Amino acid sequence: MAEKTLSTISWQDFQTLSLPDKGPYFQAPPHHTLIAQQFSREDIEALCELATRVKRINKRREGANYLKTLLSDKRAMLYFAQPSSRTYLSHNAACQILGLDTMDVRDSKTSSEVKGESPEDTVRTFSSYVDMIIMRHPVGGFAERVAWMMAQTPRPIPILNAGSGADQHPTQALLDVYTLLRSFEKIGGIDGKSVVFVGDLARGRTVRSLAWLLSLFNGVKLYFVAPEQLQIGQDILELLDAAGTHYELTQDFESTMPEADAIYMTRIQDEWDSEGATTTDSSDFHIGAEHMDILKPTCAILHPLPRRQEVSTDIDNDSRAMYWRQMRNGMWIRAALILRTFHREEEVHRYYDAYTPPG
Ligand code: NCD
Repeated sequence: MAEKTLSTISWQDFQTLSLPDKGPYFQAPPHHTLIAQQFSREDIEALCELATRVKRINKRREGANYLKTLLSDKRAMLYFAQPSSRTYLSHNAACQILGLDTMDVRDSKTSSEVKGESPEDTVRTFSSYVDMIIMRHPVGGFAERVAWMMAQTPRPIPILNAGSGADQHPTQALLDVYTLLRSFEKIGGIDGKSVVFVGDLARGRTVRSLAWLLSLFNGVKLYFVAPEQLQIGQDILELLDAAGTHYELTQDFESTMPEADAIYMTRIQDEWDSEGATTTDSSDFHIGAEHMDILKPTCAILHPLPRRQEVSTDIDNDSRAMYWRQMRNGMWIRAALILRTFHREEEVHRYYDAYTPPG
């Protein structure tokens, strides 16, 4: 079968495809990372293994110096048209680990968009100077549009989606799965585990992407715990139905706690509310010291951060609180993803096998 490429499909036809059907178009050169649905379980496991190897190699000075040669011929643009701390910094750090130089625009008010340039022209301009664009944008689907537009140009470069509107956040989902795989290393991995998602599931793009990645594992059960108006979108539930993943929707957080192998907390994303909208009472969607005895001793508590009051600081030092580790994992998995984007992963494996002592 002919390779599916964005250069031979019209934007109209492309938009009608389901998310899983879009996947192969992004995997084809120049290897974009745009949606969670483009990853297979095999891809995820390979990326996690690569991330761990990069991390181990980086521990020694010779290793760190070697890693910095891997992509020293490349430059990346960080285009963040929405606020970001962790995602911006961890991508930037991942680039530095691999020797990529970076440039950034962190606010569209500082680009020629204020002179009336279209967002498409703005990104095409960025692409003239770099080999990859890592972008966060408030408009859902804009990263896909950019990838399609790139395919019509003579020098298409990879686009890495660092958060698009309220719909997708694939690199966060990868770092979340990496954290879960590491947390469950000694208790049989992700297969058969129950994961409870809590908070603003309607607008939490991290949840929307992660729920899909978890559906690739066997016998996983998902609980979606949210106020009615912030419950997970029907589109995601339809994907889970098609994948045969079991799930339950509820507002009773405490009843799910004893079952949970992992709890994924999120904040209420009221930046999407129109002015004057009534605020949602989220006080029941909270975890704190009072719940620690109900949880399994191995339960992993995750949060993409930033948090507000939904996770009490009282539990920060509990061994089950994974959210700080999650951030650091993000740097390693993003380094792995960037290496894979440029097909340099085999070099890492060769170096690792030759020089890195076990442990
Ligand atoms: C999340 C995001 O931007 O979607 N943060 C992140 O990337 N770590 C979650 C949020 O903003 O609540």
